[in-house]
Amino acid sequence: MLARIRPARIEDAAAIAAIYAHHVRHGTASFDEVPRSLAETEAKIAECEAQGWPFLVAEHGQDLVGYSYAMRFRDRAAYAFTCENAIYLHPDWLGRGIGTLLLCELVACARSCGFRQMIAVIGGAGPASAALHAKCGFREAGRLKAVGYKFGRWLDTIYMQIALDAPEA
Ligand SMILES: CC(C)(COP(=O)(O)OP(=O)(O)OC[C@H]1O[C@@H](n2cnc3c(N)ncnc32)[C@H](O)[C@@H]1OP(=O)(O)O)[C@@H](O)C(=O)NCCC(=O)NCCS
Repeated sequence: MLARIRPARIEDAAAIAAIYAHHVRHGTASFDEVPRSLAETEAKIAECEAQGWPFLVAEHGQDLVGYSYAMRFRDRAAYAFTCENAIYLHPDWLGRGIGTLLLCELVACARSCGFRQMIAVIGGAGPASAALHAKCGFREAGRLKAVGYKFGRWLDTIYMQIALDAPEA
């Protein structure tokens, strides 16, 4: 089996924080420049659990090789049915289909918990992320040009969107 997808537990926080830290330090998918602490990562898992929002991990054997989660897109009341996703893989496990497994399951879980739209905010307009989201049924909804600056470069952000209440989701 490629990987087993299961809900995240608080004990997964260290492995999740390490994956995110790698992408903060070396990539442009996240516009953070300082990795999230263990406590902040635990708080995110706990918030998803408390709200009933999906936070998933991919496991290969004993190793946690990736994660994805969905949270409200914005706090304001009318956005209550729209979520934003996040998905990050361990650098040794890129390009092997695990992102597809995590995102397809996340879409299904987000639909089950009552969200009607999911937005991917693709920092740095990363081609792998755009390809993954397109493969899972997302369509481009807009591009913000040069809104990020990291590693000495101006970066675009692409918004992609999927309607969770549509048959193709
Ligand atoms: C984006 C990411 C989650 C994708 O997960 P993954 O497991 O590598 O993706 P998959 O192997 O499931 O591939 C999904 C599709 O994307 C395509 N793809 C993967 N890597 C690619 C790359 N570097 N360039 C272009 N397309 C790519 C694959 O070809 C595949 O499409 P196909 O099946 O039609 O060939 C992963 O690469 C990652 O963690 N990247 C760094 C962090 C990031 O960008 N996160 C997204 C934040 S919005």
